[in-house]
Amino acid sequence: VTLGSVDDGKSTLIGRMLYDSGNLPEDQVAKIEQETVTSGLHVLPDFSLVTDGLLAEQEQKITIDVAYRYFRTPQRVFILADSPGHEQYTRNMATAASNAQVALLLIDARSGLTTQTKRHAFIASLLGIKRVIVLVNKMDLVDYSEDRFREVSSEFLEFSERLQFVDVQLIPVSALVGDNVVHRSEKMPWYTGVPVLTLLETLYVTEDENPIDFRYSVQYVIRPNQDYRGFAGQVLSGHIKAGDDVVVIPSGVSTKVAAIDYLGANGEESLPIAQAPQSITLRLEDEVDVSRGDMIVRSGNAPEVKREFEANVVWFSDSPLTLSKTYLVQHCSRFVKCKITDLRYRIDVANLGQQPAEKLRMNEIGRAHLLASEPLYFDPYTKNRRTGSFVLIDPENYMTVAVGMILERRTAGVALREPTIEPRSQFLHKEESKLTQVERELRSGHKAFTFWFTGLSGAGKSTLCKVLEQQLFERNRSIYWLDGDSVRKGLCRDLGFRREERRENLRRIAEVAKLFNDAGTIALCSFITPYQADQELVREIVGPERFRLVYLNAELNVCEERDPNGLYQKARAGEIKGFTGVDAPYEAPMSPDLVLNTGELSPDECLSQLLTFAQTLL
Ligand code: ADX
Repeated sequence: VTLGSVDDGKSTLIGRMLYDSGNLPEDQVAKIEQETVTSGLHVLPDFSLVTDGLLAEQEQKITIDVAYRYFRTPQRVFILADSPGHEQYTRNMATAASNAQVALLLIDARSGLTTQTKRHAFIASLLGIKRVIVLVNKMDLVDYSEDRFREVSSEFLEFSERLQFVDVQLIPVSALVGDNVVHRSEKMPWYTGVPVLTLLETLYVTEDENPIDFRYSVQYVIRPNQDYRGFAGQVLSGHIKAGDDVVVIPSGVSTKVAAIDYLGANGEESLPIAQAPQSITLRLEDEVDVSRGDMIVRSGNAPEVKREFEANVVWFSDSPLTLSKTYLVQHCSRFVKCKITDLRYRIDVANLGQQPAEKLRMNEIGRAHLLASEPLYFDPYTKNRRTGSFVLIDPENYMTVAVGMILERRTAGVALREPTIEPRSQFLHKEESKLTQVERELRSGHKAFTFWFTGLSGAGKSTLCKVLEQQLFERNRSIYWLDGDSVRKGLCRDLGFRREERRENLRRIAEVAKLFNDAGTIALCSFITPYQADQELVREIVGPERFRLVYLNAELNVCEERDPNGLYQKARAGEIKGFTGVDAPYEAPMSPDLVLNTGELSPDECLSQLLTFAQTLL
């Protein structure tokens, strides 16, 4: 893939490379030679003619995709992906780069690194390109100065030190004149390396596909008659043989591959082995349930099955990333609804620093936390480019708004299992009670809801719940209050306050509240619940129809002033670590069902609002 700004000379480089290596059709050569001018000692063919088609599209504002050029030399066959260098086409650049093995990055020797160069290099690195050839171009315009080449080279190396490239090579070139593109330049005897094309012909490129982890994404279930049942799809990575043991995700059911059917040039045939990126049809030994979007993997080698994940996101759209909005995530062959629950930071491409941010605008890159409505089956991008990447789509207009690369999960200390995945045993069977929810509610005389109170320590959660419980009890409601401090002495005594531990704490409580509700009892839950992802999680565990989130909103300084148990003071003194509001975050809920400004309202006012809110439901 060729990268760089518009003016860095990409089309000239491509034209020069194809022309000098005899890869242009005769009519184009003739045209170019007609337009050739001689300037001083240089013969300067007009290579823009090669890329004219693309430029015309650009002028007409037609959607510009990626132009692929195929060429060959006796040593190798190349596919060159070229995308317009304008900033607004970062999307195309990312598309072009996403399958590339090598990046050719152009830098104008006169200007050195620009923000655009840095952005392209950074995105190339994010996309997993390991090898870059940096072409310091337009050397003819800096008098073929070795010093200038060294300066630009060090500038790039200093910047790229923090990127994930394993191989960076720098070549001084003049694409226009033809120096060091296909032929070695005589004007730069100080450069002892090879020209660009020679390097491309000899560069060691390992297989970038993941050869180990077999991932097969089912696109169609084919069932023409009773005797045939095949699952058509694509091998995303790895390979599989007939007879191999496989598991279907998400059901977890095991079976074996009975046969691999393939429609090739010779018609329908059965293959002994299939590998990425072949599109095949798998037949399985047992009659297992497999649907479109499922994944088939080798047993003992499963991907992550999770609703939540962290990703580096490159934003493409004019409308910025919005935290509360529902997007569609396209991952492998599935489309699933999702929300970006947190933007951890934005990356400043100029220095690769992390900046706090609320939004990502067009062309910006950041790290985000995503929550999907159903689990995705993925691997970290560094392990698997296919199952580790996704595209975000705006469901209002079906425009692609971003690409994402899923990150490895960093868990400190004891890794707690994700709460939303399948239980450990597949051999569980739920016996249904003879009593129905309706019968139980009739007995208690009211509906059972969970009222979940979130807010900072000192916002008034316990105080309000305590009185509310009493008042509703007096009105003959069956009710039970679950509180942070008491639950943490019993049910959750093994848990502390790290991110994952808080989540496990809340997951357990939500399961308990759900059981109370099943039994016909109202549950009041007062827990800080500082992360939006967890606020959503507990809602889902309890069941959205009988869950209400009450946000007790009070400024940190108000809570800190109240400091009922002297904990803020201890936290400020460093005696408590990771205290919400002090050195751990509190994320105000995205969609609370009731907000009470407990910093301003009196406890009585809050209580009466709560009673009204609760009684209309019960
Ligand atoms: S949550 O984050 O998992 O929702 P939870 O509501 O159960 O927290 O527990 C909060 C209570 O634990 C606080 O009321 C406080 O008394 C106590 N606590 C002890 N350490 C911390 C801490 N680091 N952050 C917040 N609360 C803490």
